[in-house]
Amino acid sequence: MTMIEPIIQIKNMEKMYELGGETVMALKGVSLDIKKGDFISIIGPSGSGKSTFMNMIGCLDRPDSGEYMLDNEKIGKMKRSQLATIRNEKIGFIFQNFNLISKLTAVENVELPLIYRGMKAVERRETALAALEKVGLADRANHLPSQLSGGQQQRVAIARALAGHPPILLADEPTGALDSKTSKDILAIMKSLNEQGHTIILITHDLDVAKQASRVVRIHDGQLYENGGEWFADAQNGTEKYYSK
Ligand SMILES: Nc1ncnc2c1ncn2[C@@H]1O[C@H](COP(=O)(O)OP(=O)(O)OP(=O)(O)O)[C@@H](O)[C@H]1O
Ligand SMILES: [Mg+2]
Repeated sequence: MTMIEPIIQIKNMEKMYELGGETVMALKGVSLDIKKGDFISIIGPSGSGKSTFMNMIGCLDRPDSGEYMLDNEKIGKMKRSQLATIRNEKIGFIFQNFNLISKLTAVENVELPLIYRGMKAVERRETALAALEKVGLADRANHLPSQLSGGQQQRVAIARALAGHPPILLADEPTGALDSKTSKDILAIMKSLNEQGHTIILITHDLDVAKQASRVVRIHDGQLYENGGEWFADAQNGTEKYYSK
């Protein structure tokens, strides 16, 4: 039997915010291992710490304490500039509001992470077009975001996340701004990317979305729960109580 290596190992991660003399413990000693090829969702209500945790996993911010190994790199002690490089290599981001640059065409948006890599123009264009092809949008390459539907804009954002072939895709409420039919299309794309070997981490407050993943972890008040625990059982019986919009 071969062991699948973890691509993410987080131990006892804490994050505190201070605002106007008050402190909030947004992450209270969170531990999580994610294996290569996993499709995991992290679900929790508003204010539970989802975006805070995503910022840590995505190396967008640094925790106050704890250990973080990302694809064999020790993240804890890195400088911000090193974090930016790691982020570009290892993680493709997908956000609720797509975060496309409005003045750039679809293909130019997809090229952005490749510019950061220092890829030359011709190769960059080819790589970006291939990523758009993968999400079924090759025929919209020269459209501006404003000339695309919400679902198409999210597909451009997925192409941008994919373009540099990062091993991990990290999505924060990727269907939050979409209708239910379009949400299904986007989740189907994410499933197929997972089948092609991408590790996917999907953050959501929507149980129907979370259930698309092969593994569901819950976050509540800065703590993680998986397979058991009182809160987990409670939430399973009364999902509306916790997850209605
Ligand atoms: N920059 C900040 N300064 C101070 N407090 C913050 C900051 N960011 C988050 N918090 C607090 O930390 C806690 C967790 O916030 P977080 O944004 O991670 O929640 P969330 O689960 O993403 O919520 P939502 O579903 O509404 O996006 C909340 O109590 C929030 O008020
Ligand atoms: Mg959030």
